[in-house]
Amino acid sequence: MKEKLVYICQNCGFESARWQGKCPECGEWNTFEEAAKKVVSSKQRKLDAIKESTKSNIVSLGDISTDYEYRIKTNINELDRVLGGGIIPGSLILIGGDPGIGKSTLLLQMCANVIDYKPLYITAEESLQQIKYRSRRIKHIDDSLRLLSETNADNINNIIKETDAQIIVIDSIQAVYSEKIESTPGSISQVRECSMMFMQTAKRTGKAVFLIGHINKEGSLAGPKILEHLVDTVIQFEGDKSYSYRILRSQKNRFGSTNEIGVFEMTYAGLEEVNNPSDVFLAGINTNESGIAIVTTLEGSRTILLEVQALVTSTNYGMPQRSVNGYDMRRLQMILAVLEKRFGFPFSKNDVFVNIAGGIYLNDSACDLGIASALISSLQDKPIDSKTVFIGEIGLTGEVRPVSAIEQRISEIQKLGFTKIILPKANKITKQYDVDIYTVEKIREAMFEIFKFK
Ligand code: TYD
Ligand code: MG
Repeated sequence: MKEKLVYICQNCGFESARWQGKCPECGEWNTFEEAAKKVVSSKQRKLDAIKESTKSNIVSLGDISTDYEYRIKTNINELDRVLGGGIIPGSLILIGGDPGIGKSTLLLQMCANVIDYKPLYITAEESLQQIKYRSRRIKHIDDSLRLLSETNADNINNIIKETDAQIIVIDSIQAVYSEKIESTPGSISQVRECSMMFMQTAKRTGKAVFLIGHINKEGSLAGPKILEHLVDTVIQFEGDKSYSYRILRSQKNRFGSTNEIGVFEMTYAGLEEVNNPSDVFLAGINTNESGIAIVTTLEGSRTILLEVQALVTSTNYGMPQRSVNGYDMRRLQMILAVLEKRFGFPFSKNDVFVNIAGGIYLNDSACDLGIASALISSLQDKPIDSKTVFIGEIGLTGEVRPVSAIEQRISEIQKLGFTKIILPKANKITKQYDVDIYTVEKIREAMFEIFKFK
């Protein structure tokens, strides 16, 4: 087979026949690196395709076994939920996140929890002593947990084939390299080829392989986006450095939903599960400050209550500032426009800052009414009763529209001891609740009820 020289963007994997300063695909500068590519003739490609297709077997639906649905429970509920119910044997799972967020800690704790499956933790980054040091901080780590310090991907691949371990962790994919490939460890060709090799081995042996990947400054996993397409599951471990909460979020899952999140807290003794996130996110908010409202958001199968903070101050220079953290800027601008146009609140003469406490990103339109209330509360400097929760989507005419899973939201609100809920009239409620429910059709009605406007 012939080889030809190509240039590959180390950020997105774009291939070019010549070197270029700027990648036309992802727009990054100086990311092209030389690589040798095997040239397969079109005739050969057709022959391969025929060979492939003769291998294929047509089966009927009823004959397909669903045994692969078997999942290994890690018994870390927050992790199992995000994985879609547990680890699927033979799958390749990528866990990405900023350095220092707790990826190694999480997977070390996971290994400790699945010790019956004889897990193997392969470290390519840290020394065995460093891992031992970390494990001392964490509760319940058994001395029998097996470790291997290795950076050679081909050796690792052989070990995966030979070992009796059913679960293998590789920490990290950027630190391993295959001698068969010329480029440096961490480069796109290395990461891609090594991952493909591990994928095949995972599928063939039925062992589950976890890859740890660092995130780059743009926020994409492992630099090469390509890795995300290769693996079965992509899980992102994120968190704000100023909080101790860590959120596990599935971005892609061939075997489960991608809506689920898992919440942890990094403590002095490892990661602790947070089974009731509202408790932490709402901790200490009984203040009577203006600009604060409580909303509900659905994260997968769970309802979480969160605090929305708004600060509205008069603009000093011509252009009013808008700054938002944890919520969609366009949606905020829409709400501001509705409040100004329909009710005459002078937001265009004010700077507006919105912040969602706890480092969660609100992606649920049911939070609109709460955002609007927090904005008006700050503008008017009138605090909202801290035992009131807002539910409702806002439409362009100032109407409050119904939201999904209303009863699930109400039950959670009631469980957490709130006393009043403002919600859309159009939402049908069938059960009886022990909270004061006030239904509204227009934002105006909600505002009259809350702020007692004349
Ligand atoms: P680590 O798992 O090494 O992160 P990653 O693999 O994602 O780079 O965790 C690093 C941080 O977590 C480090 O700053 C120390 C802190 N930490 C704790 O606070 N408590 C603990 O019990 C452990 C093990 C780590
Ligand atoms: Mg690490």
